[in-house]
Amino acid sequence: ALKDNTVIVVLGASGDLAKKKTYPALFGLYRMGFLPRDVKIVGYARTKMDDAEYHKRITSYLKVADDDAEGKANIEQFKAFSSYVSGGYEDAPSFENLNKVLEDIESKYQSKERNRLFYLALPPSVFIPVAQHLRQQVYSKDGKNRIIVEKPFGKDLESCRVLLGSLKQHWTEDETFRIDHYLGKEMVKNILVLRFANIAMGAAWDKNSISNVQVTFKEPFGTEGRGGYFDEFGIIRDILQNHLLQVLSIIAMERPVSFSAEDIRDEKVKVLRAIPPIERSDTLLGQYVAANGKPGYLDDDTVPPNSVCPTYAATTLWIHNPRWEGVPFILKAGKALNEAKVEVRIQFKDVTQGIFKDISRNELVIRIQPSEAVYLKLNTKTPGLNTRAIPTEMDLTYKRRFTDAKIPEAYEALILDALRGDHSNFVRDDELDVAWKIFTPILHWIDGKNGPAPRPVPYPYGSRGPKELESFIGKYGYKRTVPD
Ligand code: BG6
Repeated sequence: ALKDNTVIVVLGASGDLAKKKTYPALFGLYRMGFLPRDVKIVGYARTKMDDAEYHKRITSYLKVADDDAEGKANIEQFKAFSSYVSGGYEDAPSFENLNKVLEDIESKYQSKERNRLFYLALPPSVFIPVAQHLRQQVYSKDGKNRIIVEKPFGKDLESCRVLLGSLKQHWTEDETFRIDHYLGKEMVKNILVLRFANIAMGAAWDKNSISNVQVTFKEPFGTEGRGGYFDEFGIIRDILQNHLLQVLSIIAMERPVSFSAEDIRDEKVKVLRAIPPIERSDTLLGQYVAANGKPGYLDDDTVPPNSVCPTYAATTLWIHNPRWEGVPFILKAGKALNEAKVEVRIQFKDVTQGIFKDISRNELVIRIQPSEAVYLKLNTKTPGLNTRAIPTEMDLTYKRRFTDAKIPEAYEALILDALRGDHSNFVRDDELDVAWKIFTPILHWIDGKNGPAPRPVPYPYGSRGPKELESFIGKYGYKRTVPD
């Protein structure tokens, strides 16, 4: 456990993010012994409720197996250091009251140090007033103050700059932790190790050996009830511009001088700056329609009729630097597809023709979820009295290799980093800026800002995506493995 005294304030304690991610992650950290000694968790939201009601709620957020007596005891302990304060998001007296509650909690601390971590699990409409009031009324004078915020960080370059600018008036970069929860995922963190701790990987990591790179996100469910939010943002803002671009930047960046947050983020920004805005012709957009007994996107009551919002997108990015010139990086993501899967697929070039014909390409696949794995497709001689080569796999599936390992949830890893003050896995302001530069022109086109909005092509709920996908990726040189 960390030695510091810390009060963790969860703002938006009765919302969806707090329920699905923040509280379960805090509880997970507690169970693993990673919360600071003497930690206190204070929930804050508009809903009026007493501690008993609040405890009932957070208990419903935390999952333990029926026969897990220890887990149940842990829930009781967790409740004992969790309390609730209700108040508005835009008025000073509410925050003065919150501050009093925190001071009261801290007055029982033995040490003078009073650290506060503010987790904003809030809709963007109240980010700024809350950040301002926290700074003005709830800022600890005797310790570290840290604020965690999460997307959406605006809708395009300009609105992002406005939002960041307002937050910066109150909170320094050092105090701010911008979450992209993909950076907390075990396999995303593993990319740095795979690349830079293995000389065999490093040697083949460029345009001389690699033909194309794909980063793919697939989800088997639609917007179900989240259509209001989703329709305003679309799949590119929801997944590509942040989660997938972050993964791309770690795959493509140069070796950082050290593992420090600034060295890593300097390299990420540098490679992103070498990517020009995405071209329309490098984009494929889709929207799911009813199939297999499941409703189409437009059948969702929370979605405006005739919406042309894409629920699927594939885009190809080009990196203009000596390592990657000419190598397409294809980012693709979709809702309501045939499976849940997130992976990076690096396809190597053909071997020189001559002794082998129709031989498969090598591929390195990093499966981020589900079932974390790294596997390399290799051609091997068919065992026996012949010289035929067949495609096989060198397979590092975590479940088999690390049988006892518990892979942390992304939010557990990130909250712990924030408590420790480590920014490595958080998004720096200039990273966001350059990410928006890459995507803003295409988003304005999709939003119909400079003419008629493009129509996404339909794809059936539960399918692999638009049928146009095959030829789209083929255009960038992707070749399927030759079947045995
Ligand atoms: C969120 C998106 O950022 O990521 C959601 O807003 C998406 O639409 C989610 O479902 C996916 O996260 P994960 O961790 O389940 O892959």
